Amino acid sequence: MSRALERCYNIARLRERASRRLPAPMFHYIDGAAGDEWTMRQNTDAFDRYELVPRFLVDVSEIDLTTTVFGREISMPFFCAPTAMGRLFHHHGETGVARAANRAGTMYSLSSISTASIEEVAEATDGPKLFQIYVFKDRGLNREFIQRCKESGYDALALTVDVPIAGNRERDLVTGMTIPPQLTLSSLFNFAMHPRWVWNYFTHPPLELSNVKDRVKGDVTTLVSFFNDELDRTVSWDDAAWMIEEWGGPFAIKGILSAEDAIRAAEVGASAVMVSNHGGRQLDSSPAPVEVLPEIVDAVGDRMEVILEGGVRRGVHVLKALALGATACSAGRPYLFGLGAGGEAGVDRALEILRTDIERDIRILGCRNIGEVDSARIRRVSD
Ligand code: GLV
Repeated sequence: MSRALERCYNIARLRERASRRLPAPMFHYIDGAAGDEWTMRQNTDAFDRYELVPRFLVDVSEIDLTTTVFGREISMPFFCAPTAMGRLFHHHGETGVARAANRAGTMYSLSSISTASIEEVAEATDGPKLFQIYVFKDRGLNREFIQRCKESGYDALALTVDVPIAGNRERDLVTGMTIPPQLTLSSLFNFAMHPRWVWNYFTHPPLELSNVKDRVKGDVTTLVSFFNDELDRTVSWDDAAWMIEEWGGPFAIKGILSAEDAIRAAEVGASAVMVSNHGGRQLDSSPAPVEVLPEIVDAVGDRMEVILEGGVRRGVHVLKALALGATACSAGRPYLFGLGAGGEAGVDRALEILRTDIERDIRILGCRNIGEVDSARIRRVSD
């Protein structure tokens, strides 16, 4: 690993490095969110409403961070959330992230709108992997996704439910972000400032949405138009129930923010909920996952896995989520900053930062394993 990556001591420093190495449309696509980005900020800030209460004189010489999600053991209570279009940020793309996740002993989640296919990722890693589904208007694609995931040995599926239409991503309007990226007169200067990215982009196979390329037209588009033209707004709980039945294995509903919807997810047979607001990229003003986590754990924690996704940047965030009853956490931006900062090695670094953080802080908290990080270790800061 390069000295520069080693000097990224935390996720914030990886983000800074990614901001220097990526052209503006790519960096702001990762870094930005919907509207005023209040929800995105809340996702991390809301963790500050909780304190962790350490207990001392506990033998913490040996600790065990392993836990089980979607029927697979992972080496720490954190895994890689699905994120779109990996090769925009580094030519290593999704297969690089999947390999890094495997090396870290954790789960990788592949997005439907990835630049590496279900099969390419399965070839790159025999580690735990999940496939995320958006329901396309072309309903044949859903059946095809499920079949391909079965044939490629994926462990789980996650149906994302929070994109009936695209959120208001204003930074993408400002930077002129398109799929695939286009060199225009106004973006020329920005791309010229990032010759390494431009060189790598143009010397690797053309960017395509690998999982859907045979079914979805390949014109240059924006993410908003893509979502609004291709995704199906009629999707309902009946469709979720159909998918769960058709898949027959571990299945998460991703984007849950209320106890009522979590209960519904349990009723239709999902094995997990991912408590998420899509990184603040959909409804600005929606609550931070950590704010709604306790009520969701109360409602379904005894019968489903509850994954907290949103705002995790530090080991203490993961520990707080566990203490509030989450099974594990997932996140996208931390490893995408790593990918932008240094490709696959940058993802290794992001995962190492989080693991080191969790390992250190669980010991200081006086816990030897994930099960010991319970409600006795957390309190809400009084107003
Ligand atoms: C894709 O899912 C995005 O949020 O940009």
